[in-house]
Order: sequence, then structure tokens, then C-alpha cells
Amino acid sequence: MRIALYNPDSRAEFWIDGLHAVWPDAEVALWSPGSAPADFAIAWTPPQAFFDEQPGLRAVFNLGAGVDALMRLRIPPQTQVVRLEDAGMAVQMAEYVCHAVLRHFRGLDTYEADARARRWRYHPVVMRSDFPVGVMGLGVLGSRVVQALRGFEFPVNAWSRQPKMVDGVQCFAGGDQLDAFLAASKVLVCLLPLTVDTQNILNHRNLSRLQPGGYVINVARGAHLVDADLLALLDSGHLAGAMLDVFRTEPLPPEHPFWGHAQISITPHMSARTLEAESLAQIIAKLQALLQGQPVDGLVQRERGY
Ligand code: NAP
Ligand code: GLV
Repeated sequence: MRIALYNPDSRAEFWIDGLHAVWPDAEVALWSPGSAPADFAIAWTPPQAFFDEQPGLRAVFNLGAGVDALMRLRIPPQTQVVRLEDAGMAVQMAEYVCHAVLRHFRGLDTYEADARARRWRYHPVVMRSDFPVGVMGLGVLGSRVVQALRGFEFPVNAWSRQPKMVDGVQCFAGGDQLDAFLAASKVLVCLLPLTVDTQNILNHRNLSRLQPGGYVINVARGAHLVDADLLALLDSGHLAGAMLDVFRTEPLPPEHPFWGHAQISITPHMSARTLEAESLAQIIAKLQALLQGQPVDGLVQRERGY
């Protein structure tokens, strides 16, 4: 068995040693143009040539939860696309989103500015009932985030493609219920996969439907958000702020107006990092299942794009 790695951000020896511990006879090598074609691949954002030169690939394991970069490529029809599910990312996402929600809810930026000015004063208490949080995407990560937000007793709404029921959460589904979901939410968390149906979904029309003083947390993909629409709604006062982890161009270019904007917090695509040990263990389990002809979790349905 040959396994090709394309993983520019990670240590190749870690993956080669980890895979050899289970399959000592496997040929595991970093892919570069002209490499011998492999049976399986473990990859993050490979180039088109990666698939063009390996037409017999049986499966590619995506080194992340989101497969949008792979879905933009021509992948051989028989190649199964398998993504990471959680693998230590869900708890990180819950930490990040709860931090953003709590920081805004408790006015901690204002208190921090007061502290820097040596000012001891109180700001009005905001009631939880006036702070409903809407989570777009109720998958592996969205479900964990919803659960964490419920732990802080926020009213929580969630929106998915297929109807769902979650205890204590007002669930909405499909395009028909999007407006009702937005109107019920003040804080909007985006945890959707990037697909033809979801790109640009954080646009002027939809963000305008959030309750006044709304706040946007985008931890999914930069292309969900129409940057100019966010800026316009911050300027108009309809939105109070945003915390953004993902951007159309990464790294965010130095001249981008988001940098230094008083109402926008920026992090460099770190809300849920891919953890090596968890990812290796999950991919080994999935490859074992595949080799034994058993069902594999996290198979991407190519026709829907996630
Ligand atoms: P997932 O398990 O596939 O969940 C996706 C959710 O989105 C599902 O609930 C799905 O609805 C919903 N959805 C998809 N298309 C929709 C549509 N057109 N309308 C309404 N709902 C729709 O994905 P995940 O593992 O939670 O990951 C979500 C995304 O997070 C990834 O795709 C990635 O882009 C992003 N991410 C970011 C980071 C970071 O560090 N910033 C890290 C990891 C992941 P159904 O349940 O009905 O199918
Ligand atoms: C990171 O953004 C991922 O999709 O895992």
C-alpha cells in the first residue's frame, strides 16, 4: 500500500512514523510532482496536479473539517473524500465562540478600556433574554458550540439544511426558515461548510435581518462573508461588532479595512486548529475501516459539497 502525504503545515516524520507503526510495510512519502502514484492520500489544500497524477487514488483524507478547497478540484470519480470530524476541534470551537459571545455580552472590551484609563464605573446590565445567539450549521462543530452556549443559559437558535431537534434550542432549517432564524437572533455564529449554497450568505440582506445591535462571529470560511456589507452595517449602527477568524484572502492583506477597525476583532484562522495526534488516530481508524470494507464516518457527499 502506498500513502501520499501533502501537508505543508505539519511534520512529515510524525505522519510517516505513525502510519508505519500500524502498517510497517506501507510506502508512505511526501508527494511532489512526479512522485509514484499512491493508493491513499492524506492532504490539506493540495494542488490540482496531486489528483491529475494519481488517477487511481482510492481515498483522500482531508486534514481538516472543511473540504471546500478539495471540492474546487477535479478529483477522480472513484476517489472517496473523507474529512476530519471533531478530532479535538469541537471543544476549541466552543471555547472560541463562547469567549467571543461572553466578551461582547459582558462588555469586557469597554471595561478593559476603562481599566486602561484607571476609570472605575459600571455599564448597564444586559439581560440574557435580549441576547439570543443563532448558530448557522448544526453539524459536528455547530452542535458542540450550541451545547456550550446552552451551558451559559443563552437563548440559542440553530439553522441547518435538514430539520433537527435539539433540547432547549429553537431549530430552523432550509431557505424557507432562514429569515425567521435571523430575526430571532442578535448574535450570529457561522459554522457552515463553504458550498455553492452558502457562499456570500453573510450579506447585507441577511445581516440586516438580525436584531438591532447584532454581532457576527465567522469561524467557518472567509467567502461566507461579504466584507463590504459587514462594514456598511457597522457604519450604519445596525451591527455592533464582529469577531472574525477566517477571511477571503489569508493571510489578511495589510491594507484590508478590517485591520484596525474599532468594532472588529481578528484572529488568524486559529479558532480550531488541526491537532496532529487526534487527527492521526482518526485517520488510521478510518483507513482501517475502509480497508476492511466497513462503513467510514465523515465521507463527503460530493454532490452537496460537504
Ligand atoms: P458538518 O458536520 O458537515 O456540519 C455542517 C452543518 O452545516 C450541518 O448542520 C449542515 O446541515 C449545515 N449546512 C450545510 N449546508 C447548509 C445549507 N445550505 N443551509 C443550511 N445549513 C447547511 O461540518 P463541521 O465539522 O461542523 O464544520 C463546519 C465548518 O467549520 C467546516 O466546513 C469549516 O469550513 C469550518 N471550520 C473552521 C475552522 C477554523 O479554524 N476556523 C476549523 C474547522 C472547521 P445538515 O445537518 O442538515 O446537513
Ligand atoms: C479548518 O479550517 C478546517 O476546516 O479544519
